[in-house]
Amino acid sequence: MTTDQNLPLKKILPLSSSTTIDGTLTIGDCSTRDLADKFGTPLYIYDAKTLRSQASEYIKAFNAKWPYGVEIHYASKAWINVPMAQFLAGEGLSFDVVSGGEMAVLRVAGVDVSHSAFHGNNKTADELREALENKFGQIVINSVDEIDLLDSISADLGIIPRVLLRISPSVDAHTHAATTTGLVDSKFGVAIENNEAYNACIKINEANHLDFRGIHMHLGSPIFGLEPYIAGVKVGAQLIKQLSDIGILISDFSPGGGFAVAYTDSDNPPAPSAYASAICETLAEQADLLSFPPPRLIIEPGRSLVARAGVALYSVGSRKEIPGIRTYVAVDGGMSDNIRPAIYGSKYEVMAAERPFDPAQETVTIAGKFCESGDVLARDVKLPILKRDELVAIPAAGAYQLAMESNYNLALKPAVIMVEDGKAYVIRRRETYDDLTSLDVTNQIGPLISSTESP
Ligand SMILES: Cc1ncc(COP(=O)(O)O)c(C=O)c1O
Repeated sequence: MTTDQNLPLKKILPLSSSTTIDGTLTIGDCSTRDLADKFGTPLYIYDAKTLRSQASEYIKAFNAKWPYGVEIHYASKAWINVPMAQFLAGEGLSFDVVSGGEMAVLRVAGVDVSHSAFHGNNKTADELREALENKFGQIVINSVDEIDLLDSISADLGIIPRVLLRISPSVDAHTHAATTTGLVDSKFGVAIENNEAYNACIKINEANHLDFRGIHMHLGSPIFGLEPYIAGVKVGAQLIKQLSDIGILISDFSPGGGFAVAYTDSDNPPAPSAYASAICETLAEQADLLSFPPPRLIIEPGRSLVARAGVALYSVGSRKEIPGIRTYVAVDGGMSDNIRPAIYGSKYEVMAAERPFDPAQETVTIAGKFCESGDVLARDVKLPILKRDELVAIPAAGAYQLAMESNYNLALKPAVIMVEDGKAYVIRRRETYDDLTSLDVTNQIGPLISSTESP
């Protein structure tokens, strides 16, 4: 293996990326060709080194700036399964979950959830009960009607959960409309306008079976600027002050997640330490100005912990040239494992994984294999002329790709591996045709099936 500093896309590839002597992309000292031969494609590869580094960067950056207590909750929605939960818990992270399913994964993983939080804009009564029975550290209430629901479930179970209120602070995070969450017209959080959030806090504080701890917000994602966080913290601080004026003390505050990552070479997101400075300095200044005790800080990074660690590896298939218009090169995955370009117009870089140093010879569009014209992974990317069966790698593939995967066209979900020091560890096997039919109930439909015998 070499450690080639000139590797193209080095900035967005996992930290351990390099090449073999013959120039094939390696991750965690594993050749992508060897991995493809062993595990097949499409293949999702997570680099343990990058995951460890991102986790420790967040933990260190916020603890260095905030001496009053910090919890880093990995937003599991970015992607989680049992081994990933165990790995991230081992790196010192807690979790933010939004469903019974995500809770079940943590339960099977056997990780401590006493510092984790249960979120969601429409938690069912069963899910709230599960969260309380599983002793989740906090429940983040999203709406006024959830206050009575949670209070009565808590009373039934004889548990008094720690509760935060998610507010909608009316701060525009300037992200895609589908991922902006902090504006008044949002299904998330109780509006700051008309004292709605203030009144909801009083209601939670008065509830008999809830232990009101604090305020939460999540502005959207990915947020490339620091200003939305500064504005959000200021809105939160005003509310904390209003509450402290009537004797309600806030011990926990969360500005959520949404920290940006580089998907392309031209993206330049702030470092975790820059987000930490903006959030912590604003909160400290506001606490001083408005005379309230500095609360504990809860940070919820999702994509920024896992995106760069992940690489999607595909094999090249068919090619379609439309003279003067476009050349499509299709790969063996697509919108079933990465729907982000189709729904958000997300942009990705593509690398010819077995010859990353070869000069670009043409501009092509990398299409998936699914029955939608929108099934495109990357438009107008410059690459060498790709041959059938060679490998292409898409960096920054670790977040919200597998999390939103589907069986569209009954695609098999890809295998997922974690790599380090020349070893590959399977953390999810590839789906099989048997898996695809395993939920089907075939012994009931008989009476509904018309005879196919001819009359
Ligand atoms: C409440 C909450 N926290 C954290 C996140 C994580 O966002 P990101 O993965 O962009 O950091 C989300 C994403 O939707 C969220 O809804």
